[in-house]
Amino acid sequence: MTPYKLTVIICLCGCLVQVHPFDWTDLDPFNHIKSTEWYHKIKNLMSTTFNDKHQIPRGKGNYSVGCIDLMFDFSVKGSLLRLYYPSRDSEDDVHHNTVWIPSKEYFLGLSKFLGLHKLMGKFITHYFSSVTSPANWDAPLKNGEKYPLIIFSHGLGAFRTVYSALGIDLASHGFIVAAVEHRDESASATFYFEDELALQRNNKTWLPYKQLSSEMTEYAQRHQQVLQRAEECSKALNLILDINEGKAVENALNSSFNLQQLEDMIDENKIAIMGHSFGGATAIQSLSEDNRFRCAIALDAWMNPLSDELYSKVVQPIFFINSERFQTAENVMKMRQFYLGDKETKMITIKGSVHQNFPDFTFVTGKILGYIFSLKGNIDSDVAIGLTSKASLAFLQKHLDLQRNFDQWDPLIEGEDVNLMRDSNAGSVTYLSEYLE
Ligand SMILES: *[C@@H]1O[C@H](CO)[C@@H](O)[C@H](O)[C@H]1NC(C)=O
Ligand SMILES: *[C@@H]1O[C@H](CO)[C@@H](O)[C@H](O)[C@H]1NC(C)=O
Ligand SMILES: *[C@@H]1O[C@H](CO)[C@@H](O)[C@H](O)[C@H]1NC(C)=O
Repeated sequence: MTPYKLTVIICLCGCLVQVHPFDWTDLDPFNHIKSTEWYHKIKNLMSTTFNDKHQIPRGKGNYSVGCIDLMFDFSVKGSLLRLYYPSRDSEDDVHHNTVWIPSKEYFLGLSKFLGLHKLMGKFITHYFSSVTSPANWDAPLKNGEKYPLIIFSHGLGAFRTVYSALGIDLASHGFIVAAVEHRDESASATFYFEDELALQRNNKTWLPYKQLSSEMTEYAQRHQQVLQRAEECSKALNLILDINEGKAVENALNSSFNLQQLEDMIDENKIAIMGHSFGGATAIQSLSEDNRFRCAIALDAWMNPLSDELYSKVVQPIFFINSERFQTAENVMKMRQFYLGDKETKMITIKGSVHQNFPDFTFVTGKILGYIFSLKGNIDSDVAIGLTSKASLAFLQKHLDLQRNFDQWDPLIEGEDVNLMRDSNAGSVTYLSEYLE
């Protein structure tokens, strides 16, 4: 879609609200609009202009990638995650691409989180509900080797499906990636089932995003959430290792993927944790609590939810990959505290990038919309995610002792690339790392 056309659409949406005054207390204003000529004009414009140009990129590695959703058990105490894995290509069965955002509740939660008008939320739902991620849904796992595992934690207002570009790229390089969906009310939305009957009837209980309450400090609330998030990461890991060890686990979600395929396919000594923003903090919290995680990659981590006591407790290596425009001197100073001690801590910044360069939204919007919502930076989104993935792979090879060729990207860990810088641009503080050397 050309930027010009997108502007037109935004104007049209704006005009529509202005020329069609109606009662906002109507149960469904959208249905009212659906019957108007305006609506059809916009819809046609959207469908003719929303072509293949804005797609979530395919993995650059050598493996085909499959995807399933996994829920166990069905209750709020269980786990919900999206799994990306190396898949077996077979010519007789055709697998479909993965639906990117699987329910309208996620869109509505997302638009609420972004502070968009309800109507704009409905347009966004309409707009993006046909977007797919380039992974083969329910495809069989490729066997023949054991894979390293990454548990991935999403950011505030996000959910399990919106880091597919990264998840798919890592899976295409031979990782199994489990993107958990958190139930600490920091996701745009998530769901579970009250009981067996609800499960049989597919009657989901939705857990919406919760605004901060004024009764406790922000820190107290976010800290409580990060503890729950870390627990959920460990719980997801337990589940996957149970399956790996051959315990009978039944997926509460309808799937043709036989979980027994995963038996003995994961290398239990090669497990890492990764996350974005609030998920970056979650990854670090998880390191401190669960020593099965051998290292963490924190993408534009938001350090506030972490307690002061945590810093001395973490012994595993951490890799901070930051965007240029999100970090503050204060946040980066917290990250630098990990430079102390014996573990390897690394930090790089992707030049010209924004906080939203890590999730998928940056790929599915045109330039204008991307800039309006700060989903795109000055750097090309494919280049930014490529650097994130390659630098991560090099770091993972080093700290999970992989026998692969990812060490070709070792210089990226040091920030050696025209689009990278070492450490951070935030604040003109002397780099603590250099100070220590
Ligand atoms: C894919 O496989 C080819 C041939 O085996 C190899 O040269 C190449 O480096 C691999 N690519 C990646 C990204 O691992
Ligand atoms: C779905 O579950 C809710 C409570 O969990 C219940 O009130 C409602 O009646 C159920 N709906 C159906 C169709 O079973
Ligand atoms: C589960 O999947 C099967 C095959 O894809 C389909 O026929 C069935 O209707 C689905 N059941 C539910 C409850 O969605």
